[in-house]
Amino acid sequence: MTTAYRLFLCMLLCTCHASAGPDNAVVQNGLATSSSIDDETTIKIKSITTQLSSMMKDKRRIDKRKYQQNDNEDDMHQQAADILSRPFVTFAYAQTLDGMLAATTSDQTDALTKSTSNMLLSCPESIKLTHHLRNMHDGILVGGSTFLLDQPRLNCRLSPTSTSSYSIEDPMPIVLDTHLNNLQRLLFDDIISIQEENVDIPEDITIDKIKAHNPIICCSSNAAKSFLDLLELFQDQHEVTKRKKRNKKSYNIIVTKKIDENGDIENELYLPIKITLQVTTYNKKEDDIVEELIVTLLPCQIHTHKLDLRHVLHQLYNQFDILSIMVEGGSGILSSFLNECIVDGMKKSSKIVDCVCVTTTPKVIGGKWGLPIFRGLDILSGRTDRTYDTSKKNKKDDKDTDVSESFSDQMLNRMITFKDCEFVSLGQDSIFLGRL
Ligand SMILES: NC(=O)c1ccc[n+]([C@@H]2O[C@H](COP(=O)([O-])OP(=O)(O)OC[C@H]3O[C@@H](n4cnc5c(N)ncnc54)[C@H](OP(=O)(O)O)[C@@H]3O)[C@@H](O)[C@H]2O)c1
Repeated sequence: MTTAYRLFLCMLLCTCHASAGPDNAVVQNGLATSSSIDDETTIKIKSITTQLSSMMKDKRRIDKRKYQQNDNEDDMHQQAADILSRPFVTFAYAQTLDGMLAATTSDQTDALTKSTSNMLLSCPESIKLTHHLRNMHDGILVGGSTFLLDQPRLNCRLSPTSTSSYSIEDPMPIVLDTHLNNLQRLLFDDIISIQEENVDIPEDITIDKIKAHNPIICCSSNAAKSFLDLLELFQDQHEVTKRKKRNKKSYNIIVTKKIDENGDIENELYLPIKITLQVTTYNKKEDDIVEELIVTLLPCQIHTHKLDLRHVLHQLYNQFDILSIMVEGGSGILSSFLNECIVDGMKKSSKIVDCVCVTTTPKVIGGKWGLPIFRGLDILSGRTDRTYDTSKKNKKDDKDTDVSESFSDQMLNRMITFKDCEFVSLGQDSIFLGRL
């Protein structure tokens, strides 16, 4: 299908949708036909995913050309590291009409925070799109807080039909959890610091709160080391208490570390560590229950107390062959990715987000309870003279209008503007697709 024809079809469908009324039904001779709704959704989703996949191909083509054009060897290595060694990154999240990602409270453990993941904000049609997007990417990435609060499955829930032209594959779940605090809270219901003198080793491990299948958890190398020490202490203590109290559970913890073939110790710090946790619950009357959880820790470098996103992407690309990642949120992660893109004044080769696919739902939460999408985004970040205008504003002899003009200009120039933008209505939601 040509792009022009696809756009025409989309425009036609948008017109149908606009006239279909609030329940999104396509009316034919006064009757709403659900198959027409399905067809409409399918065509629109196909149009969005086709465009996204052409963006992915474009990036690969451009990267390859840049790589080949560079005849200076040193530069070529630098280019390869900067451009080629990271996956294609798509932002895909759902927001309310007032730009909120979720409802939240100051108490992060409150149930309200858990109640508004993207799946709950979106309409069924855009949820279907989300699963198609997941199917297109090798990895799906969320922040530690989302992993803890939403306990997401991060898989692709599409039902195959005889006419589907795609195969269904789950993306690799990826979590950014610098200090592994969120992982600890899920497993032990607490954060345990093994540096403390009288450290309280937990009596149990709960593995059923981790719903994502075999997630990769990116963390600092120190956190990975402390976590392994904690597991060892847990296993030791459990052996003792098992003998004393005859616990009904037994734990088997298997740790597999990748080793650097060249014996490079520095390199070895950043190699993946696979942890298999087997929990057997003994049952007198019935069969024993054996549960297993596999997580892979991926140690990454740190930058200003958080994971260095460039190194995270580089590691995922190099260690797991992940060529495309869908970043779903939450706010902290989305903001950090964009902050990283504007450090050098939006230089193309240094950005780390390629495409944005946002679902906007016709709902409003409001500032009191809402979590703004880009709460941590600072569009002046990286500027050395960022205080210039504000300090000027305090001087009595400066004309306020001049200062505010220059400030507006500055802000307008620094605002993030997307390219090749398109809006498509899907069910009651609106989908925005654009390139960065
Ligand atoms: N509407 C949607 O589409 C959608 C999608 C996803 C999530 N959500 C919602 O978003 C909310 C959570 O958002 P959130 O902002 O509180 O948390 P978040 O973005 O999910 O996670 C932030 C945490 O990630 C860790 N992290 C590691 N490296 C980082 C880096 N480079 N930059 C930033 N953070 C880094 C930090 O914890 P450490 O320092 O401890 O590692 C940080 O506290 C939840 O309520 C969830 O339901 C909504």
